[in-house]
Amino acid sequence: MELNGKNVIITGASRGIGKAVALRLAQEGANIVIAARDQKTLDEAVAEIKKQATGKIIGVSTDVSKLDDLKKLHATAVAKLGEIDVLINNAGVSSQYPFDQQPLEDIERLVHTNYLGYVRLIRLVIPAMIARKQGAIINMVSGSTLVDPVPRTFVTYSSIKVGLRAFLKGLFWEMRDHGIKITSILPGVVDTDLTDKLENIAQEQRDRLMSANSVVDMVMFALSVPPNACPLELAVINQQTPWTKPVIDYSQKQAK
Ligand SMILES: NC(=O)c1ccc[n+]([C@@H]2O[C@H](COP(=O)([O-])OP(=O)(O)OC[C@H]3O[C@@H](n4cnc5c(N)ncnc54)[C@H](OP(=O)(O)O)[C@@H]3O)[C@@H](O)[C@H]2O)c1
Repeated sequence: MELNGKNVIITGASRGIGKAVALRLAQEGANIVIAARDQKTLDEAVAEIKKQATGKIIGVSTDVSKLDDLKKLHATAVAKLGEIDVLINNAGVSSQYPFDQQPLEDIERLVHTNYLGYVRLIRLVIPAMIARKQGAIINMVSGSTLVDPVPRTFVTYSSIKVGLRAFLKGLFWEMRDHGIKITSILPGVVDTDLTDKLENIAQEQRDRLMSANSVVDMVMFALSVPPNACPLELAVINQQTPWTKPVIDYSQKQAK
């Protein structure tokens, strides 16, 4: 897809992976609406991204866990940019608890942000994409969905991402017939604010965190394939880390 002049919404683009994606798309000449909750961080990100942009860069303060905010985000993006060519669903929160200690409010927050935040915004953008028979929707899921059963103490976060991944896989087939591309990105552990709270990991492991740009490359790949092709899922996983590897750490004696 030629990105110059294309209209893009990116959620959670004031920091981390979303901001890195916004910077790269801005360099390609896209017009971008970026969404996040904290107004100050959002304003700073817009100012930084604008320096590298030739297209329009607009910040819309949004809490993706709230349906009214999503409706306002979509309406503002269409009013200021025109029809949306690309949606990048990325805003997400992480949380780690033994399940019996996880606050009920935290479970609600994860479902509303990491599942409904994605599904509802897709539902808002697709009618116009279907009418135009084009569009791409790229979704930040998680490499933790590759581990079965989902990792201990990440049971709620990861199982919601598993559900999201299943939804997107089904949607891929429904939307394919309308010319709309649906792609899930499954990142391993990335060095962002979301992971800088990790405790008890050795510096050697911390050094193996991926940069956000490894994930940006996957987004750019998804947007660069020919019109008659679409990557359904792209996993970009850290090499040689103890994370997201379904490996049993003991070996059996060889039979003589
Ligand atoms: N980092 C990793 O290792 C990793 C691995 C796999 C998958 N992922 C996924 O990748 C996505 C991005 O992660 P990240 O590491 O870049 O996170 P991050 O550095 O914490 O950034 C999260 C972004 O989302 C925004 N956000 C959070 N909650 C929001 C809400 N309710 N409404 C609107 N915006 C919201 C934040 O801004 P405000 O706080 O101001 O709203 C921020 O811009 C998430 O979906 C995450 O689950 C990350």
